[in-house]
Amino acid sequence: MTAHAPPSPAPPIGVLVELTHRCPLGCPYCSNPVSLERPAAELGTQTWTRIFTEAAALGALHVHLSGGEPTARRDIAEIVRGAAQAGLYTNLITSGVGLSEKRWSAIVEAGLDHAQLSFQGADKATNDRLAHYDSAWERKRAFAAMVTNAGLPLTINAVISRGNLHQVGAFIDLAVELGARRLEVAHTQYYGWALANRAALMPPRKEVEESIALVEGARTRLKGRLVIDMVIPDYYARYPKPCAGGWGRMAINVSPSGKALPCHAAESIPGLEFWNVRERSLAEIWRDNPAFQAFRGTDWMQEPCRSCERREIDWGGCRCQALALVGAAAATDPACHKSPHHARIAATAAAEAEADASAIRWRSYKDKVEA
Ligand code: SF4
Ligand code: FES
Repeated sequence: MTAHAPPSPAPPIGVLVELTHRCPLGCPYCSNPVSLERPAAELGTQTWTRIFTEAAALGALHVHLSGGEPTARRDIAEIVRGAAQAGLYTNLITSGVGLSEKRWSAIVEAGLDHAQLSFQGADKATNDRLAHYDSAWERKRAFAAMVTNAGLPLTINAVISRGNLHQVGAFIDLAVELGARRLEVAHTQYYGWALANRAALMPPRKEVEESIALVEGARTRLKGRLVIDMVIPDYYARYPKPCAGGWGRMAINVSPSGKALPCHAAESIPGLEFWNVRERSLAEIWRDNPAFQAFRGTDWMQEPCRSCERREIDWGGCRCQALALVGAAAATDPACHKSPHHARIAATAAAEAEADASAIRWRSYKDKVEA
């Protein structure tokens, strides 16, 4: 087969908008950049609404309303309305700790289709410690009830690290108890704050393998009742994940200040200029921004990806991880066993899984704000 890059890209399937980097929680695994964007730089309601219209015109089907905590925006109901009126399927990705019944009703009335609620632990002590927020447990449970009472589908997102890996079974029970239709057992991916906290978060391989077996058993047991998705830790994988579905191939992220990104960590790659939705249309950015073309398709690949039969399955893995761990964004993701760096990465993970787990740097807006 000949390597190629599509001359005219197919439209993105979805858009993930980080409406704000403000968040009441302090999760140490947060994928936001360590340099958070300031509230004063955030896009206004009308600009977000225009982006949704442009996304739908471009061919996108759904929008994920994320952050930070998207409900920290006072205009969240207006934003949901703009997305729904553009014809997009709307998914709110939230910590669930900050919404009154009244504000939630306004969001539902505005046309929300789906809610995705994060839990940091499957009991109060674990949840509130990892969320770095004292009453998060009670608030999250109350929010789950508000979602199901409104008749909306609920997904529970359980982000897994060393501190809660022993609770995978309890997360499954929690999802069933709360009436969720879907559970994501998502092992931490190491970008942003999670990369800074990697040694405190990395789980041991043996326990990861046990959790995978546990999920597979539960999938069979709960078939037709609860769908369970699982993201395993890259560092213990044989093949990498197709990050963002392939660079510039399926999704656009938009940062709070309007930077359009091929993935949430793209700004970590030096030398790329990300165009802003304040100045350009989403269609122009998707088609013409050199940053979106940089790793689109397969032309940019080096060996072993270039001649690999999986190159249009995982698209070489994650560019940001290749840069962070190997120092070259165009290198094969070292999560792949064909990477010459794979053994070193796995050894790092094994060593860090034994490291001191108490030295955590909690995500803090005040601590790290982009100048
Ligand atoms: Fe994927 Fe590249 Fe590994 Fe092949 S060599 S499996 S394309 S990361
Ligand atoms: Fe950027 Fe994976 S997070 S390509």
